[in-house]
Amino acid sequence: MRRLPPFLPLLLLAAAPAAAETLAPDAAPVAADAPVEPGPAVRPTTAPAAALGWTDQTPIATILQALGAPAPAHARPTDPALVETGREIFTTGRAVGPDGKKAKKQSRAFECTDCHNAVREDPDLRASDPATRLDYAEAWGLSFLPGTTMYGQVDRSSWFNGDYVKKYGALVEPANNSLMEAIQLCSVECSQGRALSDWEMEAMLAFLGSLGLRWADLDAAELDLAQIEAAASGTDEERDAARGSVQAAFLPASPATFVDEPEAHGKDEAGYGLTGDPARGEAVYKRACLHCHGRGGPSVYRLADRRGRYRELRQNQGKRDQWSYYVAVRHGTSPFSGRYMPGFTQERLSDQQVEDLRAWIDQNAAPKGRR
Ligand code: HEC
Ligand code: HEC
Repeated sequence: MRRLPPFLPLLLLAAAPAAAETLAPDAAPVAADAPVEPGPAVRPTTAPAAALGWTDQTPIATILQALGAPAPAHARPTDPALVETGREIFTTGRAVGPDGKKAKKQSRAFECTDCHNAVREDPDLRASDPATRLDYAEAWGLSFLPGTTMYGQVDRSSWFNGDYVKKYGALVEPANNSLMEAIQLCSVECSQGRALSDWEMEAMLAFLGSLGLRWADLDAAELDLAQIEAAASGTDEERDAARGSVQAAFLPASPATFVDEPEAHGKDEAGYGLTGDPARGEAVYKRACLHCHGRGGPSVYRLADRRGRYRELRQNQGKRDQWSYYVAVRHGTSPFSGRYMPGFTQERLSDQQVEDLRAWIDQNAAPKGRR
């Protein structure tokens, strides 16, 4: 029978000791632009490119709104102090509130950074491809995580997509349609903590707003900023066409497909039946597994780049429970003291990458001098 990945472990068990703090991802630049008023209804006779003053750094949200898109319910004006407060909650789970007191930690088990990056993680924003994402992570020194990045989150139009909403239904539906609901669902269920209070939510939205896509993020080979800007003061048809071409330059949602472990995943069994590349597996191990199982990570189950740990992983490979990494990566684990491992969807860790990981583990579990 197909099990669902317990990304939403519905049991809340006894409180765990506070998890060690992980490194904050690199800060993205703070948005300087305030929302821009739509252009005049009549095309100006002066050079249109100067009309709205758009640059490489103009938020896509600003551009889309000038082209007639409604401002989403989660849009907030830029406030640098709130952005910083939101960043603090995202990276450490707590910040000082309007009452001057530090709030209780959002979750004892996790910080948002355990599962989500806050920087761009896909070289092509029109695709969600774990292979190119891993290359990009290698090039930029990023972690490779089960949750999608918060970069460009405010530019999306649905959340907890695909199998999350399909398989969890009513529990996830509100989050599918609202970024605020998605944040709360994730805070309570994925992160096994409490919902954000009103001021924390405002800070989080300000922070996510600062991580909105910019014009420079788009692969703008076919797009010309001056033309798009001119369209903002053009006819309805021109505005719609320009809006469509900007929207086509990035995915409006992060797709999610649940997958099972392969039937036969013992030591000498086929697994997914793909030949693994140990070098790519090393990247998975170090950028995904050690993010949580290494020193300072949220898991008490310690992994390291050591033969003994590789041997144990190989030894457990054929098990039918979460001690097999095949099962753990595909279904996640059951919560223990609030901690659990979220399953990886196909978009976050491909079958090929699981076999790459296996090749790396096998190679390192072998006695010295033998492969
Ligand atoms: C234990 C892992 C974990 C932690 C901790 C966690 N998340 Fe998530 N989050 C997930 C997973 C898994 C998803 C599923 C959808 C995806 O990201 O692909 C998700 C989804 C989301 C989404 C919707 C993304 C989308 O495009 O579908 C938002 C927004 C979000 N999380 C915000 C947060 C915030 C804010 C925090 C900290 C308060 C947090 N998460 C903590 C694992 C986690
Ligand atoms: C987002 C954090 C996170 C990531 C990434 C992650 N794990 Fe886990 N993993 C956990 C947590 C938390 C547990 C539960 C154990 C605990 O309470 O600490 C766990 C449990 C496991 C278990 C079962 C052991 C047990 O205690 O039940 C295995 C095996 C495992 N992980 C392997 C992996 C492998 C292999 C990778 C890399 C592909 C990986 N994990 C990536 C957080 C993570």
